[in-house]
Amino acid sequence: MMFRSLGQKNIVSGTGKSEWIYNFEKLSEKEGSDPATDRPEIHMRLMQSGPSLDEVQRFRAPARINIIGEHTDYNDGLVLPTTTALFTSIAARPRPDRIVRVDSRNMQDARSFDLDDIEPDDNPGWVDYAKGVAAELEAEGIQLQGADLEIESEIPLGGGLSSSASFELAVATALLRVADKSLPGPLLAKICRRAEIRYAGVNCGIMDQYTIACCKRGHAMLLDCRSLDVEQVAIPPSAGMLIIDSGVKHRLPDSSYNRRLDECAEAVNILSQDAPQFAALRDLSMEMLEMQKDSLGNLLYRRCRHVVSENQRVRDAYAALNSGDLVNLGKLISVSHASLRDDFEVSCDEVDQLVAIADECTGVLGSRIVGAGFGGCVLSLVEADRIDDAARQIRQRYKEVTGDDPWTHIVQAAKPATCSDIAPGDKVSGYAS
Ligand code: GLA
Repeated sequence: MMFRSLGQKNIVSGTGKSEWIYNFEKLSEKEGSDPATDRPEIHMRLMQSGPSLDEVQRFRAPARINIIGEHTDYNDGLVLPTTTALFTSIAARPRPDRIVRVDSRNMQDARSFDLDDIEPDDNPGWVDYAKGVAAELEAEGIQLQGADLEIESEIPLGGGLSSSASFELAVATALLRVADKSLPGPLLAKICRRAEIRYAGVNCGIMDQYTIACCKRGHAMLLDCRSLDVEQVAIPPSAGMLIIDSGVKHRLPDSSYNRRLDECAEAVNILSQDAPQFAALRDLSMEMLEMQKDSLGNLLYRRCRHVVSENQRVRDAYAALNSGDLVNLGKLISVSHASLRDDFEVSCDEVDQLVAIADECTGVLGSRIVGAGFGGCVLSLVEADRIDDAARQIRQRYKEVTGDDPWTHIVQAAKPATCSDIAPGDKVSGYAS
C-alpha cells in the first residue's frame, strides 16, 4: 500500500462538532441513515462551499478479510475471502469540467488531475491509485465526468486488509455514478486491478478487488483466480472472526511482495521447460513438486510447496465452512500461518508472537497472518460467543509482552462496494444510501 500510515487515531479524527459533521448529519437525515454502518462521526467533512448538498452523493467500499488462500491468486489458484464493515467512504460531487479533485482525510492532502492527461508516474503516490482507476475506466470506453471527491478510510493502512483495493473500488463506484454509468462487479474488479498494477506499481492478483466488488454480505467467496468462478458460502453465526493489528506496516511497492511474484514466475519457468502446457503454479501437484525438487533448489521448492498446499487448504476450508466444522477450519488456518512463515517467508516476529498469543486464548480455534504479509494484521477464528473475551485477553497479553495495545476489530458482514448482495454479472449501482 502506498499510503503513509497515520495510525488509527488520525483515521478516525474529527472531534468537535465542525461544519462538516453538521453537513454530514444533515445529509444522513435527508437520506435516512443506517446507524450500524453509516458512522457519521468518522465520515469526511463534506464539501462546504459551492453548490447545494443535493449534488453530493456518498459511496463506500468495505475492507477485505482473507480467511485462507494467501499468495495463491497470482498463481492462478484458489482463495476464500470475505469483507467486513470497515469502509473507505467518499463524498462525491460532479464538476462541469474534466478535472478530478481528490481530497484525502487520511493523507491530509488534496490533488487534482485532468481526465484528458493521465500518465503513470515513475514514483507513484497515493493519488495515483485514483488516477489509475479513472484512466482504466476510460480505457474501457467509459466516458467519465469531472468530480470533487472527499475520501476517508477507516481501514488500517498497510495492514493486510486491502485498504488499496477498497480505495480503488470506492473511487471507481463514485466516478461511475457521477457520470451516470454502470459496470458489472467482476469487470469493475478487473479494471481496478489493472489500475493498481499499471499506476501503483504493485503486481497484485485479483482477489482483493474481486472480493470487494462481488462478495455477498455475510458470505465468504471461494474464488478460482484462473476461471473466476465463484461459490458464495454463508458464514455460520458461530464463526467469530477477530482481526488484531500487529502495528507493523507494510508498503507493498517497497516490500518483497513483487519479489515473491518473481520467484513464483521463475519456478514456473523451470517447471515448464519440459511441459510447455504448464502455465502457473496452479498446475503443480505435490507429486510433481517432489520430483522437481532438485531442479528448483531449496528456496523455490519451499515457495512452491506453500502455493500447492495452500490451494488444497482452501478447498478443505471451503468444505469445513460449508459443513460448519469450525475446529477443522481453525486447524487449516493455523497450518496456513506456518506455511506462510516457514515456506513463503512473509511473516515477521511481531506477527508470529501475536499468532502465538492469540492461539493460547480461550475460544480461539486458529490464527494466521492475513493479506500480503511483511507485517500487518492477524486473523483469529474464534467461537463467536467468546470473541469479546478473546479480544480482551489477546490485547492484554500482547501489551504485557510488547508494551503495545493492539487495535482489534470483530469482522462484521458488509455490503460490497457496488450494491447489496451483488452476484457476478449484476449491475453496479453506486452506494448512495
Ligand atoms: C495482496 C494482493 C493480493 C494477494 C495478497 C496475498 O493483498 O493485493 O492480490 O496476492 O496480497 O494473498
